[in-house]
Amino acid sequence: MTEHLERPLTCPVAGRVEPPPAPGYVTYARMDRLHELAAPRTESAQELSFILLSHVKELLFRMVYVDVDQARARLRADDVDQACRALERTVRSQRILVTTWEGINAISADEFLAFRDILGDASGVQSFMYRTLEFALGNKNPAMVETASAQADRYPDLRAELSAPSLYDETLRYLARRGHPVPESLCTRDFREQYAPDPAVEDVWLTIYRAPRSHPDEYRVAELLTEVAFQFSQWRATHLLVVERKLGRKPGTGGTDGVDWLRAVSEHRFFPELWSMRTRL
Ligand code: HEM
Repeated sequence: MTEHLERPLTCPVAGRVEPPPAPGYVTYARMDRLHELAAPRTESAQELSFILLSHVKELLFRMVYVDVDQARARLRADDVDQACRALERTVRSQRILVTTWEGINAISADEFLAFRDILGDASGVQSFMYRTLEFALGNKNPAMVETASAQADRYPDLRAELSAPSLYDETLRYLARRGHPVPESLCTRDFREQYAPDPAVEDVWLTIYRAPRSHPDEYRVAELLTEVAFQFSQWRATHLLVVERKLGRKPGTGGTDGVDWLRAVSEHRFFPELWSMRTRL
């Protein structure tokens, strides 16, 4: 399609270069191919909904990731305005993501069990796009690269993302450049390692929140990051509830014990000191 769009047409009579014809709705975004992707394996109408909603969620993981990546790049360049614009877009997409649970929630436990067996060991835990997003935000777990290893071979971005500074790492480096006392060791750490909360960073956020008007840019970034973390936790909490409603205490198809594992995961908070400093504020 790209080739078709980029090749100008020469009129055989006038010899003029004509603009390529408009591609049309279906051709432009390959809607025909998109719809071919939804291929249920049972007669269940709910299975089709499940696949379509899974596609929607995957695409939204990607949309969120693209803006998180933008925000990170703009912060690295000290361009706070554009970083905040990207974070605002991130939050909007996250709100849509949370809402998509509505559709999965509409499938009752018995309707879900009617096609669950055909999933085999397929599980969202293998989503390379979700994992790339978690890494980009700062939840680094090298073991999870192996969980998505089949896809990681096709998508080396996941491995690259594990080693790259996350959005939070770039935020801390930005704060350090603005003269805040962020420990140097945090700005140059091994970014593959899980981030460990640091009391000095909590102090920095406290200083900003105690005098927001003296640090308007930092405060704006902090509030947007908190909303990103909030929306992510909303997604996890709703997933947990939806799963409990479908499965009770059955184990997950990905090999975990199900709701207990998801409950533990949902305790995780992105940008931890932005949460912990509230107790002292
Ligand atoms: C009836 C619907 C669903 C059920 C019962 C369910 C169940 C589970 C369970 C039990 C886990 C834990 C890992 C495992 O053992 O499988 C899990 C993880 C996960 N699920 Fe779902 N899930 C459902 C729908 C979805 C959908 C539609 C998506 C998005 C496309 C999704 C994305 C994920 C992700 C990303 C994880 C990993 C979470 C993490 O690592 O923190 N799930 N799911």
